[in-house]
Amino acid sequence: MTTKLFRNARIVTPQDPGAPLRGADQGKVREIEGGALLCRHGLVDRVGEEAEVREAAKGTEIHEEVDLGGRCVIPGFVDPHTHLCFAARREEEFRLRLEGTPYLEILRRGGGILSSVRSVRSASDEELFETTLGNAMSALEHGTTTVEVKSGYGLDTETELRMLRVIDRLRRETPLDVAATFMGGHAVAEDYRDRPDQFVDLLCGEMIPAVAEQGIARFCDVFCEEGVFSVDQSRRILLAARAAGLELKIHADEVHDLGGAGLAAELGTVSAEHLLAASEPNLKAMAEAGVIAALLPATAYSLRKPYAPGRRMVELGVPVALATDCNPGSCFCESMPFVFGLGVMHMGFSLEEALVASTLNAAYAIGLGHRVGSLDPGKSADFLVLDGSTPAILAYHAGVNPVAEVYKRAEWVA
Ligand code: NIG
Ligand code: FE
Repeated sequence: MTTKLFRNARIVTPQDPGAPLRGADQGKVREIEGGALLCRHGLVDRVGEEAEVREAAKGTEIHEEVDLGGRCVIPGFVDPHTHLCFAARREEEFRLRLEGTPYLEILRRGGGILSSVRSVRSASDEELFETTLGNAMSALEHGTTTVEVKSGYGLDTETELRMLRVIDRLRRETPLDVAATFMGGHAVAEDYRDRPDQFVDLLCGEMIPAVAEQGIARFCDVFCEEGVFSVDQSRRILLAARAAGLELKIHADEVHDLGGAGLAAELGTVSAEHLLAASEPNLKAMAEAGVIAALLPATAYSLRKPYAPGRRMVELGVPVALATDCNPGSCFCESMPFVFGLGVMHMGFSLEEALVASTLNAAYAIGLGHRVGSLDPGKSADFLVLDGSTPAILAYHAGVNPVAEVYKRAEWVA
């Protein structure tokens, strides 16, 4: 196995205390001028100033040295919330939204998520994989080295399992680490339009047990929203998932303040997502329960909604993560640098807070904090070489890809 030394870098990374960073620590990072990274077997072995790393490596054979030219190195992005497994884009719907039709109205008319369900059901496994792979490779080029992907465009047992198999194939056939989430509770399937509680029965009685039995998803997520699943229905789904051994996530208070954030706190979900409309008492409850807020500013951008109160969440002590939400409807964006930029420009995060949110806290939001998200010894050597000398370049050089090189397990991948 090879030992590699990456040198001449300005390394900026969170240091993992074994839990997500929050409050005053949300922006705590280590900066190393003239830094080096010693990697063995694809893992970080040592990180620090070059002289110090070389001294510690004395007696170890170094097979390869890479000069990074003084550029900034950060951990690979972890994107903890995507729906990038889909079969067709929805460009026409974007136009409708620009012309004033609300996102949930399009869904109510049988479009939106339900339109994606139709295209996924009629796509072959190969077609579905090809589109998914294209999205994932684009994410990788923009610096995502670990990604969460949700099902939820099947809404029947067979197609949900098919999506999860495609997501599993992504894990096997790309350099990415992939966390799979079952999201059969993404919308009420068309056949169940007039009997949503029976769809919840199907989710709890058939889909969740089938997914758990096959062991192909770690998390279960649900869209808790007006006209989709109520707080009570969401609770039923999530409790059934927990009983089956899945960990929990929830799309909470994206459009309306339904109380999804409160449910996240009540159940102690790993994360609650969106939170554009979440109430202050429910955010406080999340902070107490240690629920990570996975914020999706590119969705607010694409839906033309006010951004989630990220700064306030940091003040309240909620650990904050950032994600793309990449999907064909509310937010077709696979770029973590764009999300980082929006977090800094529109949510009031400092550069360091946004960096922690898109690496270490994002890793904790998908249960992978012990393996990825920071350049600590023992973790996967996943890192980005930026086209700049500090993380500021991610927000400063807008509208282009500021990620020059991507390394996964110490191998160059993009
Ligand atoms: O997180 N809100 C629900 N789910 C996605 C959108 C999915 C879609 O429109 O296809 C979201 O925004
Ligand atoms: Fe989403």
